[in-house]
Amino acid sequence: MTRSTSTSAEPRSAAPAFDLDRIRADFPALRQEVHGRPLVYLDNAATSQKPQSVLDVIERYYEQDNANVHRGIHELSRRATVAYEEARKKVAAWIGASNPAQIVWTRGTTDAINLVAHAWGLDHLGEGDEILLTVLEHHSNIVPWQILAGRTGARLRYVELDEQGRLVLDDLETGLVNERTRLVTVSHVSNALGTVNPLPRIIEAAHAVGAIVLVDGAQGAVHTKVDVESLGADFYALSGHKMCGPTGIGALWGRRELLETMAPYQGGGEMIHVVDRDASSWAAVPHKFEAGTPNIVGAIGLGAAVDYLSGIGMEAVEAHERDLLAYALDRVGSVPGVRIFGPESQDERSAVVSFTLGDAHPHDISTILDTEGIAVRAGHHCAQLVMKHFDVSATARASFYLYNTKDEVDRLVEGLDEVRRIFA
Ligand SMILES: Cc1ncc(COP(=O)(O)O)c(C=O)c1O
Repeated sequence: MTRSTSTSAEPRSAAPAFDLDRIRADFPALRQEVHGRPLVYLDNAATSQKPQSVLDVIERYYEQDNANVHRGIHELSRRATVAYEEARKKVAAWIGASNPAQIVWTRGTTDAINLVAHAWGLDHLGEGDEILLTVLEHHSNIVPWQILAGRTGARLRYVELDEQGRLVLDDLETGLVNERTRLVTVSHVSNALGTVNPLPRIIEAAHAVGAIVLVDGAQGAVHTKVDVESLGADFYALSGHKMCGPTGIGALWGRRELLETMAPYQGGGEMIHVVDRDASSWAAVPHKFEAGTPNIVGAIGLGAAVDYLSGIGMEAVEAHERDLLAYALDRVGSVPGVRIFGPESQDERSAVVSFTLGDAHPHDISTILDTEGIAVRAGHHCAQLVMKHFDVSATARASFYLYNTKDEVDRLVEGLDEVRRIFA
């Protein structure tokens, strides 16, 4: 039977109006009760919920098209390969990459950063070279560089934070970035505070001394339209599960010349051209970096997530989140005893409200909110350097996405009133 692949979701017809009720209806997980109360899911910076269209694509793939990619000549393998490579094109278009070959599938942002650390870092760094990172980074954009520095003799330097959790860039062009700097790595948006970083200035300063720039986009492309080519960085990493896609899939976009000259990350099937007894040659980019059977259904599911978000329009998503953030900062900020972390100006922050409440431990805040059906994250958010900077061990974090509502913010505030009552 010849049929066109059924694994790519139809993009929504152009529907610029932001219909929140309809969007919420697309997410089955939001329809449940938790501890007898309607779920309020505010842990989107950790992972997002998935729309029905993504779930359908995953189910359809396993029901009808399941086969390995690039290897078979039979129909199922053809369908799987087409859907898998179509998904790569969707992700490329989504972040403004003109060439899908510059999209390498990874397990997520962490895997993408480790790929660069190994495949680029081991061959380009040595004693005395410097890697510039920031105190704002998620552990996955710190630890791989520490390991790399340990193996190469390179030195780590950090951009510090100010009292609002913004990068202090005063010394950027006068010492912090210098002739020894080989790599600058920075998050687009902080998961712990929501700070949006001034990427153009950082990229310009790095390129002025010939350093390359990696942007950790785990919290970036999720909330805002990204155009990697006009941004001008050398690598951009993202995770599918934070943007309505499945877990275990993400992407690394890289500049073509860099990807071409980098060594493979892992060896195995799929990534070779010819294998001989003593040596092998590599497949073309991006396959050179994709050893073994890939996460086929993950990639296809991420393609469907891109279709879903594109159908709504990221401008509309951003506008909704901005509105919600303003409301949440105002409402949560007016709860007595609350301390909100992160930039004061809303222009410098994304849809995250990280806070403490009096003497209540953030774990207790989260536990009490959970009994009310409200899911927030409590802890160091894999950003222990940020916690140290503010001299706290943890914060509670409410993080919003396209399907959250002002009523849910009100439920959060009611939950915080309950926390205050218990701790009074
Ligand atoms: C800013 C940032 N970077 C990196 C990561 C790691 O992403 P993943 O666990 O999907 O690899 C996260 C996850 O929370 C993040 O928020």
